[in-house]
Amino acid sequence: MVEKKSLTLYWTKNGNTEKVARRIHETLERAGIEDSILRMTKDLEVEYLDYNLVFLGAPVYHNLPPKPVIAFLEKHRKRGVAIVASSPEKPGIAAIPYCTYGGGHTGYNEALPMLKYIGQFFEHEGIRVVDDIAVPGVFPEAEPAYNTKGRFGIITDRPSAQDLREVEGRVLGILRRLHLVLPLGDAFL
Ligand SMILES: Cc1cc2nc3c(=O)[nH]c(=O)nc-3n(C[C@H](O)[C@H](O)[C@H](O)COP(=O)(O)O)c2cc1C
Repeated sequence: MVEKKSLTLYWTKNGNTEKVARRIHETLERAGIEDSILRMTKDLEVEYLDYNLVFLGAPVYHNLPPKPVIAFLEKHRKRGVAIVASSPEKPGIAAIPYCTYGGGHTGYNEALPMLKYIGQFFEHEGIRVVDDIAVPGVFPEAEPAYNTKGRFGIITDRPSAQDLREVEGRVLGILRRLHLVLPLGDAFL
């Protein structure tokens, strides 16, 4: 079984999701985990099962991941790992979908379908989804009201420094909970 290795995958157009990805990466590395941070592209090939933890994140586009991310997920579903009835869990690996989103209309409900959608790709192949992380992010292309009068109020500076501190806290919480998957020792707990 692999030990203390993680993978942080991200896709971004305007940089919000990359900021979150980088904070996840830095937090994992500081905790003593060897993390590979990779941008999802058409040509990227990865094997999730080579890692103990996989973070996969992107912006919400129309309640789902952007098309290149859907293409990435589908390509990896076909990479040869058997998907069987009841999707028995594999030991030693867990996944965490994450996203950034404007939430200008219905707030967190805009992130939920996408997080669940990504999670299904992992759960189908027996990779347990242990958490998900949704971070508000400015929507520069939208009419200004979406960034000032939406459900989260003024989001022009988000993800903010406070948002990124919260991401760090969430990642550390995941690591403490997963002490059997990633044995980091008593000092860390
Ligand atoms: C084409 C497009 C569609 C979007 N659709 C949604 C949406 O349905 N719900 C939402 O909350 N935010 C939506 N957003 C806002 C983005 O999710 C948000 O700005 C995100 O933080 C951008 O991430 P990035 O900077 O990593 O590209 C959309 C943005 C774009 C460009």
